[in-house]
Amino acid sequence: MLKAQDLTVLLGGREILRGVDFAAKPGEITAIVGPNGSGKTTLLRALTGDVGFSGDARIEGLDVARAKPWELAARRSVLSQFTGVAFPFTVAEIVHIGQSAGVRGAGSELTERALARVGLSGFGPRPYHDLSGGEQQRTQLARALAQVWDPVGGDGPNWLILDEPVASLDIAHQLEVMTLARDFARAGGGVVAVMHDLNLTAMFAQSVALLALGEIVTQGPVDDVFTDQNLSRAYACSLRVNTVPPAATYILPHAARA
Ligand SMILES: Nc1ncnc2c1ncn2[C@@H]1O[C@H](COP(=O)(O)OP(=O)(O)O)[C@@H](O)[C@H]1O
Ligand SMILES: [Mg+2]
Repeated sequence: MLKAQDLTVLLGGREILRGVDFAAKPGEITAIVGPNGSGKTTLLRALTGDVGFSGDARIEGLDVARAKPWELAARRSVLSQFTGVAFPFTVAEIVHIGQSAGVRGAGSELTERALARVGLSGFGPRPYHDLSGGEQQRTQLARALAQVWDPVGGDGPNWLILDEPVASLDIAHQLEVMTLARDFARAGGGVVAVMHDLNLTAMFAQSVALLALGEIVTQGPVDDVFTDQNLSRAYACSLRVNTVPPAATYILPHAARA
């Protein structure tokens, strides 16, 4: 279980998150959606212990504010929204960084398996900076995956925490990455993902938190949260939620800005 209560984050003298309650269960993909600047990345950074907050956040009982960095690293890995790398690393070196932060110790076999899992077999020796944006993003996902390779470890579920994991990917790679996340969850791990694509969210997530202006509008099963009214209000444009029987939900814009 990942659980946060009454999270408030102050940055640059502004309250970026206000009294946020958030929960995610292992075995599911929990999506965080909401407009630009609503605080999605800030919420993830609080949940992963990368930004200070008041309130309480726990990952499998581990107190995020007080845990040691290596305790957190063994329990959850993070794919950041921006994945710039300052030094001329190879792809394999980036993936190794994840493993040595995790519990298993670095190994070239796991590196290759993680790269294969994101469709980058054989990319290991290539300079990271020579890759396309989408390939860099998938390299970072392989790094995160290698860190918590086992969805369930000796003392419970591990967590993948992903900030816009499909943002610069073509549709086939979007599906590949979301399927990877779903497989991780189905094997007992936990996944929290910030998503912009509401249709992909409806297709893959079981639970969703809708954020606007630094507060949770509502959180729950996708079909409860994705209503015309909830989405239209949060995104300040007219959206229609439709369903194709038996169970495919899709969202279309109804008109220009309300
Ligand atoms: N370090 C910071 N200092 C001041 N303001 C920040 C900082 N980081 C984020 N913000 C502000 O917090 C708000 C939420 O940002 P963010 O969580 O990145 O939004 P989202 O991921 O939903 O687009 C934005 O208005 C952003 O400008
Ligand atoms: Mg963001």
